[in-house]
Amino acid sequence: MNYFNIAIDGPAGAGKSTIAKKIAKKLGFIYVDTGAMYRALALYFLRNHIQANDRESIEKACQNVDVIIEYKDGEQLVLLNGENVNGLIRTEEVGNMASASSVHKTVRLKLVELQQKLAKSANVVMDGREIGTFVLPNADLKIYMTASSKERARRRWAELKEKGIESDINEIEKDIIERDHRDMTREFAPLKQAEDAVLLDTSHMSIDEVVNTVIDLYNKKI
Ligand code: C5P
Repeated sequence: MNYFNIAIDGPAGAGKSTIAKKIAKKLGFIYVDTGAMYRALALYFLRNHIQANDRESIEKACQNVDVIIEYKDGEQLVLLNGENVNGLIRTEEVGNMASASSVHKTVRLKLVELQQKLAKSANVVMDGREIGTFVLPNADLKIYMTASSKERARRRWAELKEKGIESDINEIEKDIIERDHRDMTREFAPLKQAEDAVLLDTSHMSIDEVVNTVIDLYNKKI
């Protein structure tokens, strides 16, 4: 059976996961959060005191670590050597480690295989950085979602504030620009817009507007 695959790529904080989750729910698709997989591996590296620039240790660790994806009540669970780590991977520390360690080809290939298997077994909305260009080059619909670094920083700042955490918006923007640079300039499978992807700049769009735009694009494809 041929499944419908939607690939959503873009830089950190563009709103990919919020939108992808809503679209998956509307269409009855599975949402695959590839960032969570990189974060789970990053947690393993942090726990084992492995530095992101220590390629040899990273490669060795990749042989000992098992990342499995399960779905429970529509939510993606990431199992790291059998442990559900969903509640542990959303910290800035893990995010920074994921950004730094995901430049390694060994890390990427390990997870890409898992992502491709998931896309072959169900209708999916998968978000990441190189889904349309590398993981699922034949995806049925490709979206490249972006927003200005100022707007992405503002959204992250507001999200933290909502949680009662005060932060410096300029620091957040600096961090976002650094991550963009690392994602876009890495040698292996960097972040870039696929030639056949639809560009969506969400800087001045509401969540509903973005969701409806993607659903319209989907309806035109089926
Ligand atoms: O999307 P999220 O912020 O959860 O991803 C964490 C990090 O993992 C990103 O900063 C990015 O560098 C990396 N990543 C990646 N390729 C993906 C998904 C995430 O390199 N497909």
